[in-house]
Amino acid sequence: MLYTLMHKKVPVLDFELDQEVDAIVKILTVHNAEHIPVGVGFENGVVNRKALNNWWLSRTIPASRSGLQEALELLQVCSTRVLLEKCFALGLSDQYWVNRPSNPLQWEDINFFDNEFSEDVGDALFGKEPKGKPHLVSPDNTSDGWLKKKWIIQNGKRILLKGGSGPYYQEPLNEVLASLIMKRLSIRHVEYTYSFINDFPISACEDFIDTQTELISAWNILFTSKKRLNHISIYEHFLESCESLGIANARADLENMLVTDFLIANVDRHFNNFGAVRNADTLEWIGIAPIFDCGTSFWYNEYAHSIKPEYKIPSKPFKGDHTEQIKLVENFDRFNFDALLNIDDEFYEIFKPSQFMETGRAKTLLHSLKIRIKMLR
Ligand SMILES: Nc1ncnc2c1ncn2[C@@H]1O[C@H](COP(=O)(O)OP(=O)(O)OP(=O)(O)O)[C@@H](O)[C@H]1O
Ligand SMILES: [Mg+2]
Repeated sequence: MLYTLMHKKVPVLDFELDQEVDAIVKILTVHNAEHIPVGVGFENGVVNRKALNNWWLSRTIPASRSGLQEALELLQVCSTRVLLEKCFALGLSDQYWVNRPSNPLQWEDINFFDNEFSEDVGDALFGKEPKGKPHLVSPDNTSDGWLKKKWIIQNGKRILLKGGSGPYYQEPLNEVLASLIMKRLSIRHVEYTYSFINDFPISACEDFIDTQTELISAWNILFTSKKRLNHISIYEHFLESCESLGIANARADLENMLVTDFLIANVDRHFNNFGAVRNADTLEWIGIAPIFDCGTSFWYNEYAHSIKPEYKIPSKPFKGDHTEQIKLVENFDRFNFDALLNIDDEFYEIFKPSQFMETGRAKTLLHSLKIRIKMLR
């Protein structure tokens, strides 16, 4: 199948997709090289096909997504690649999509920022059977991450709903607590709320991308620069990549993230859980993205009695544990950790309503958070 990779209304390149093996087997005409996805690049003067294949596959729902197999059965499709093509690879986090030269479509008619979409795929991802033949054109077909999630439209706004994982289903509550902590520390972040659906907590956050912007993951930013030299740390290498691209203020924004992750004991800040935002029309960088996806924190899957807040806690992405990673922060003066005192009432307001909080768990978590705060102060 012949496709044109599009960036909003800009044709980027033509490619041939072999649907039997689900691979881009040929890159044909390059129309606009500067719009090639960040991190794909050229090798010996030609577009790096392997990198483009990886980028293409990264747009499918990951195989690790909770409940994926059941969802595919409910939707009666055999693979996530089918879903990717059904929605023209459009999403709500960036502006890439694919057009068929044999039957071309217009971006303004199909993008999910301006056009409504069905919730059938999102519902199926949450285990709900569609009524009748499901509509498969959805931004959920390209959303990343392992937790159950779906996009909805509420009062004209695009909202991402996200579930948690057993046994405590704590991730949605953690997102809200992390928002509260960052708010108190004046750290730019995505604001999360949560509600209960069938007694399960589900977080909600607004799309921080609109038709003019797009999120580029740190992972893709890493691939824009030359191979890292042995004596340069991954942290400095990433900062250098940001600097060469022209992403301003990256060090201070990353320090905000490292401080937050230390406090909340986040164990999963991988390179797709942060990134930068750019203008999708002019390609100018706006800056590091507001902090999102803080759910895998606060000992979300650990027994209360095994929580050891003062010990080494595994971290990502720059060092293996938070005690080491926090040393990357050069300047703590601008953080007012006193603003985190007297957090008890709001903490309990977040954690108490969930039926998955065993007796005493919220108290242990609050105590642990206070120890993390004390360690930083
Ligand atoms: N508010 C938002 N606006 C735009 N895009 C978003 C927003 N929140 C998340 N995304 C995009 O959706 C992806 C998946 O979301 P998120 O990271 O929150 O899910 P997750 O299942 O918790 O991920 P993980 O597997 O890392 O735990 C993100 O990597 C990002 O690309
Ligand atoms: Mg994530």
